[in-house]
Amino acid sequence: MNGAGRRPRPISSRSSSGETVIELRGVSTTYEGERTPALHGIDMSVRRGEFVAIVGPNGAGKTTLLEVVLGLLPLSSGRGSVLGCDLARERYAIRRRMGYVIQNFELDPLAPFLARDVVMMGFAGSLGPLRYPSVHDREAAVEALSRVGMSMMADRPAGKLSGGEFQRLLLARALATDPDIILLDEPFANLDASARASVGSVVDRVNQAGATVLMVSHDLHAIPSRCARAVLMDRGRIVLDGTMEAVLSSREIDELYGGCCH
Ligand SMILES: Nc1ncnc2c1ncn2[C@@H]1O[C@H](COP(=O)(O)OP(=O)(O)OP(=O)(O)O)[C@@H](O)[C@H]1O
Ligand SMILES: [Mg+2]
Repeated sequence: MNGAGRRPRPISSRSSSGETVIELRGVSTTYEGERTPALHGIDMSVRRGEFVAIVGPNGAGKTTLLEVVLGLLPLSSGRGSVLGCDLARERYAIRRRMGYVIQNFELDPLAPFLARDVVMMGFAGSLGPLRYPSVHDREAAVEALSRVGMSMMADRPAGKLSGGEFQRLLLARALATDPDIILLDEPFANLDASARASVGSVVDRVNQAGATVLMVSHDLHAIPSRCARAVLMDRGRIVLDGTMEAVLSSREIDELYGGCCH
């Protein structure tokens, strides 16, 4: 019975409908032990099927914003909902429907996991009462490895993969559960030009199939062309939110990136 009822919905059931899937109103959050909020008064709405880049300098609050959307951090003020679930009360339900590629995740080189085990970890939050993955989960993990071009490495020790291979493995883990929303925090880190292009095209296809994508990237040129909207952050606030072209050609991004983004 494990896995019953968790089969991926047909793509048609979640194609872009203009429905708001992320809604943040006046959201602030302060890390434990800190005085200053890491996010201040964030207002943001994202519609189903959108592809949004979150950009800004180091320490701007990009990762913190993703963690708020994931329901990992409590709000100190404001309110929010994700996929119709309240961010303050239904954080577990929210996380089950999201895929997350975490920034700078490192695995102990001696960790006793194969690449395929790491992908299976993506199902940890949605296992049934006996906590065994279903046959379908295993098939989905194999399929996810294939989508990122990692089929041949399924049985390699995960801790021995190169930085770029491991980054693609994390993407496979995020995709395996067929999430409604995918949050990618620097998914191009450690990737060479060809791997960047292949990861970009996987993300493109996932978005084309209906998933909503929020992508944090310092590498503005690696952001796939389907991404039409950019949110520019600085010091915990949203500075600009508009089309990719408008944000990339703005005075604000020049000031924050010192003219290095062109
Ligand atoms: N666990 C934490 N405890 C206290 N402060 C934190 C914590 N995590 C992040 N911060 C602080 O919150 C602010 C925003 O951090 P965040 O990681 O969201 O930035 P970022 O935009 O993702 O930066 P980068 O581009 O370097 O990844 C920073 O000032 C950071 O030092
Ligand atoms: Mg970050």
